[in-house]
Amino acid sequence: MSTSQLIIFDTTLRDGEQSPGASMTKDEKLRIARQLERLKVDVIEAGFAAASQGDFEAVRAIADTIRESTVCSLARANDRDISRAAEALKGAARSRIHTFIATSELHMEKKLRMTREQVLEQAIQAVRFARNLTDDIEFSPEDGYRSDPVFLAQVVEAVIREGARTINIPDTVGYAIPELYGNFIRELRERVPNSDQAIWSVHCHNDLGMAVANSLAGVKIGGARQVECTINGLGERAGNCSLEEVVMAVKTRRDYFGLDVRVDPSQIVPASRMVSQTTGFVVQPNKAVVGANAFAHASGIHQDGVLKARDTYEIMRAEDVGWSANKIVLGKLSGRNAFKQRLQELGVQLGSEAEINAAFQRFKDLADRKAEIFDEDILALVMDESAAHEQERYRLVALAQRSETGERPHAQVVFSDADQEVRTESEGNGPVDAVLRAIETKVQSGAELLLYSVNAITSGSTESQGEVTVRLQHAGRVVNGVGADPDIVVASAKAYLSALNKLQSRTERVAAQG
Ligand code: KIV
Ligand code: ZN
Repeated sequence: MSTSQLIIFDTTLRDGEQSPGASMTKDEKLRIARQLERLKVDVIEAGFAAASQGDFEAVRAIADTIRESTVCSLARANDRDISRAAEALKGAARSRIHTFIATSELHMEKKLRMTREQVLEQAIQAVRFARNLTDDIEFSPEDGYRSDPVFLAQVVEAVIREGARTINIPDTVGYAIPELYGNFIRELRERVPNSDQAIWSVHCHNDLGMAVANSLAGVKIGGARQVECTINGLGERAGNCSLEEVVMAVKTRRDYFGLDVRVDPSQIVPASRMVSQTTGFVVQPNKAVVGANAFAHASGIHQDGVLKARDTYEIMRAEDVGWSANKIVLGKLSGRNAFKQRLQELGVQLGSEAEINAAFQRFKDLADRKAEIFDEDILALVMDESAAHEQERYRLVALAQRSETGERPHAQVVFSDADQEVRTESEGNGPVDAVLRAIETKVQSGAELLLYSVNAITSGSTESQGEVTVRLQHAGRVVNGVGADPDIVVASAKAYLSALNKLQSRTERVAAQG
């Protein structure tokens, strides 16, 4: 790798997934991993293999599938976690173990209850152990930015000596300021005698809204050559550094950064949509690069300028980051082969012919109700199909609702609970309320509804499918359910049942930073 290359390390499937409600199934993760590979990210952090059997399976499936990007698993600095990571990564073309332990006084004393000497020794032992299993090891001193630089340098020097190839300095709590963070990385590199034997990496959280700025300062001032980031900036609390922003900043201002990134920008918007549709985390309209308004010129002066010369008000081209994808792709008359080919182009792999037939039937049903089918519609439909494939417990069978001015809306819902058909009805304040109440009367989940939101999957027309996100909380767990349909009441029922399915999967996870 040339020194003018900036490595893009995507952690949407690990740090991004730690965001409450963003948990994904194995199939969903695999689909996103394939899109990340098409996006040409250098490293995909696929998960935290030791956290649960589900995480292990997901990392393994991604390692077995992805060929063009390095696949990485997180592991705490202990033999068990590292062995689990190595086991899950066995099938990878290129794999990396990312091990971490906290180094700030606060974390060591209050969380780990360990002394400096113990932490140093554990870091050394972990990298030594990992070194027997792989030669691509990344080490992160968690809460690195709030650590004593002298102690931090001692730990980093020791783990490089043991064979860590990448040293990642996380701003775990998003406390950094760009100039200070950049200087911190630069001074740390100067303090570590063997610093040139590793690639330095930045990992910034967005609590003060500066994750991207801090990461870029880590690159420019600090000399880091790897950035850890997530699609749409997904992540715990205020999120992580956003991949699309950091990549487009480095590409657009190559004059300033002088660095190359391997990422194919035309895959950015499809990746953003896929992550948003999968997790139910809607992208704010004014979000840089991937927000619906990012390239919309509403004011007359701007429109006039752009028509005369695009670069009067545009520093990037919408089509270069994948916005042109929003076009009609299929319709009522499209055949099975065209549908199958579009699935392939979108990187969707439905296992068996039977699954493709089932998805095609759903596509035909949708095309009967909606004249123009967009990529986003196909993705929503496929997500529904893979939910069926994963044999989720609850599925919507039928729904009828009646609402009239001055009358209390009433809904009848039929859904399947494993093999049983359940019929239920209820009144509500509105049609959606009636449907959710009807389902809840039978399921009795006791979950608290934290969020309900509706978005048009494709903009510009009331013909669009409505995409509903429902966020539920129960017994300390937060889950998101997503449902799509041209009828938003049906979409709401699907979203609610999908959230209930996620609440059902009770796999316990170990918190990555716990
Ligand atoms: O934010 C953080 O410190 C992390 C580490 C586990 C790398 O995500
Ligand atoms: Zn993090």
